[in-house]
Amino acid sequence: MIVTDYLVIGSGIAGLTFAVKIASKLKDKTICIVTKADEDESNTKYAQGGVAVVLDFKEDSFQKHITDTLIAGDGLCDDAVVKMVVEEGPKRFKDLQNWGASFDQNKTGVLNLGKEGGHSENRIVHHKDITGYEIETLLLKRVHELKNVMVLNHHFAVDLITEHHLKTDKHEDISCYGAYVLNQETGTIETIKARSTLLATGGIGKVYGHTTNPNIATGDGIAMAFRAKAYISDMEFIQFHPTVLHDKNQGQSFLISEAVRGFGAYLRNKKGQRFMLDYDERGELASRDIVARCIDNELKNTGEPCVYLDCTHITSKKFKSHFPNIYNECASRNINIEKAWIPIVPASHYLCGGIEVDNNGKTSIGNLFACGECSRTGLHGANRLASNSLLESLVYAHNVYHYMSTHPTALTSKNIPDWDDKGTIEINSFFIHQKTEELQYIMREYVGIVRSNERLLKASEQLAILYQEIEALYKTSKLNTTLCELRNMVNVAYLIINQSIERKENRGGYFNIDMLEKIKVFENGIA
Ligand code: FAD
Ligand code: SIN
Repeated sequence: MIVTDYLVIGSGIAGLTFAVKIASKLKDKTICIVTKADEDESNTKYAQGGVAVVLDFKEDSFQKHITDTLIAGDGLCDDAVVKMVVEEGPKRFKDLQNWGASFDQNKTGVLNLGKEGGHSENRIVHHKDITGYEIETLLLKRVHELKNVMVLNHHFAVDLITEHHLKTDKHEDISCYGAYVLNQETGTIETIKARSTLLATGGIGKVYGHTTNPNIATGDGIAMAFRAKAYISDMEFIQFHPTVLHDKNQGQSFLISEAVRGFGAYLRNKKGQRFMLDYDERGELASRDIVARCIDNELKNTGEPCVYLDCTHITSKKFKSHFPNIYNECASRNINIEKAWIPIVPASHYLCGGIEVDNNGKTSIGNLFACGECSRTGLHGANRLASNSLLESLVYAHNVYHYMSTHPTALTSKNIPDWDDKGTIEINSFFIHQKTEELQYIMREYVGIVRSNERLLKASEQLAILYQEIEALYKTSKLNTTLCELRNMVNVAYLIINQSIERKENRGGYFNIDMLEKIKVFENGIA
């Protein structure tokens, strides 16, 4: 058994920022970070556009950022949370700079601020088009400089330890005492006991198969919290990114940052029409939910496999200097962006909902905190404004750190039983692969950008069968990562489908053709 003061599950921006802060402040405390793949593998690593933060008070203002966030969230944001996050933004961004992160500047040394959909001003700080990589690398470097932090790579958190495992009769006021963690190298399940546990496990993109997210994004933290009976909400608000490089293969697809549209790129259909202007006066820079839906509509109407991003009018020197990663990826696929349009489609990108937390990142379970994409803070409402996610992670990691460092928890002397896997047998990995594809098919077909009551019910029925199969398998099998991930994705899919069925009006990223609100009828369809 490992005993630690603070257990952090996940090594993206949320988990690492918290760990750096608490370990620097409380040098006599221990922090254990478990992460299921290589330590840098995370959604954070792939973030392109940047961090939305108000720094230019001549053109921009907190109020403008607040208003843009509220408009994107379509009436479902928590106003006080939006104000808090936006106003804390500059301080938390300064933390990153003080730690040594570098962001692009213009010739006079002023930060170069980019623009993305839904933003009324230029306010996106970035490091070329690899902002996430810069942040992830920096935070890992800081973490490894701290002697009281232990990072366990290839350790997969299977379940949170709560009263349920202690076999008490307590069903209310549940607390968390750490987690059971699968050591992927030895195949054994280890017990990690902690005063406080932070879930920083990121997103859920892989539930859809076709996604901008890497393979780690299987919603584990949300599923663990759900099984532990934490409150989970807003799961129906899945954000589909409009511009993902069209690729016939499923799995992680390459993102073409929204910052490229902010830089002046046009969306065109096969005929060359800038179709976004028919739908929204903001054209290519309408908010993400709207652009994704309009592209979906174009694709359904024309039967074409993709639409296009036209950058041919942007000088290639400028493009290369701002977006070297995108330029190189396109070149490696023989797309010469000076002459050819980039084929793109929407793909699942971000979860606006998640584990409910208060301003200090506290969940509804004692000693359990959540931060980053797995949490639901109230900032995003029905649709996240571009580049507000890294900002949210920075602000909440700080808030959790501040709360935990001023409210120490006593380490309970509870007797935690070891994991018991007696009688379980090895499983066939092909079967798990097949069932994962089945799940992803259900989610893409019936729970995508445009939903309907009938398709949601179909999804619910088919998922119920899958759930029974996977639970039976889980109970009788020797655990491995892919089986646990599949079980978690089935839990997450259940939450998305059920909360979609419960939503009775269209808002932001939730669009159901059977709801009458906000459906706009155009010559070429509805969106
Ligand atoms: P992650 O960075 O995803 O980290 C999660 C960590 O948890 C990983 O280390 C993972 O291995 C670990 N983990 C998960 N489950 C387990 C488990 N069971 N056991 C152990 N470890 C586990 N947002 C912006 O604001 N601006 C952008 O420009 C931007 N661009 C993006 C581009 C792409 C391609 C993608 C995919 C996302 C982008 N986002 C952007 C969203 C943003 O990157 C993420 O929301 C944010 O990085 C999430 O950080 P996180 O720390 O919550 O999770
Ligand atoms: C992008 O660069 O388009 C992604 C930005 C985000 O998800 O906030």
